[in-house]
Amino acid sequence: MTQTYKVDFSDVRWGSVEWTNLCTLYLRAYESHSPAPILGDHAAADAVDRIEYDWARMRRAMRPGSNQYMVTMRAKQLDDWSADFLRRHPDAVVLHLGCGMDTRAFRLPLPAGTIIYELDDQAVLAGKQAILDREHATPRCIRRPVAADLAQAQWPVALAAAGFNPGAPAAFVAEGLTYYLPEQADALLLDRAASIATPGSRLGVDMVSADYLTNPGVAPYLELAASRGDRWQFGSNDPGGFLAAHGWQADITTCSPWPAASADGHHQESPTT
Ligand SMILES: C[S@@+](CC[C@H](N)C(=O)[O-])C[C@H]1O[C@@H](n2cnc3c(N)ncnc32)[C@H](O)[C@@H]1O
Repeated sequence: MTQTYKVDFSDVRWGSVEWTNLCTLYLRAYESHSPAPILGDHAAADAVDRIEYDWARMRRAMRPGSNQYMVTMRAKQLDDWSADFLRRHPDAVVLHLGCGMDTRAFRLPLPAGTIIYELDDQAVLAGKQAILDREHATPRCIRRPVAADLAQAQWPVALAAAGFNPGAPAAFVAEGLTYYLPEQADALLLDRAASIATPGSRLGVDMVSADYLTNPGVAPYLELAASRGDRWQFGSNDPGGFLAAHGWQADITTCSPWPAASADGHHQESPTT
């Protein structure tokens, strides 16, 4: 294929938050070529094929032979959790907070009428759309991108403008997002999500511990990442307490496996990594 077949992402700054989207996309794509994939995200592989980028450098940096597993196991857990929720609540919607380049709407076998709202920064969504348009990709459900700043209080307004019905149960998914926001913004995000969540809605979210962010062994990596624009800002040693303070009853899992579902009310699961 010639380069004109691809969407040019070569100006995405190495180490930036936008770059982290390419990292997770690349790792999911890589894993899809495994003989026995965990996630099998062929839509990610298709997207990588359509993106002009220095993937050889990415491969050297990401060391996908080992790093593919963390990203794909996390995505698989959230896929299974979302699919299970949709099985029990066929009228539910999915709210993907900080969706980035994730292809959940293309890989999950959801009922065709299911709506997935994908929320992220406008530029991120525009880049994603350019690739999907180039691929003529068709989601397996109804996909509605919503450009919004999730660190601000108004994002539910943009969601409502995109047709979100607050009466339906919702599966909120926040994957790889919370540590990019400062504590106050995470608190606001959870508050705002709880405010539009009808009883029975749930949230799947991953967090890091505060200890991880202050670990001297990790400091050089975090400082280097921050200098490039990829700043990890918040972690909690008490994710259950933090989430409870912001409207969500938590079941905590450290890394994996994913916990069993609870019966009623707001419920959210938070593996610390
Ligand atoms: C590490 S990426 C993870 C993307 C995706 N969930 C995945 O697992 O591949 C973090 C995402 O959060 C988004 N994000 C960070 N801060 C945001 C904000 N204030 N408003 C909207 N999106 C934000 C970034 O644009 C990026 O797409």
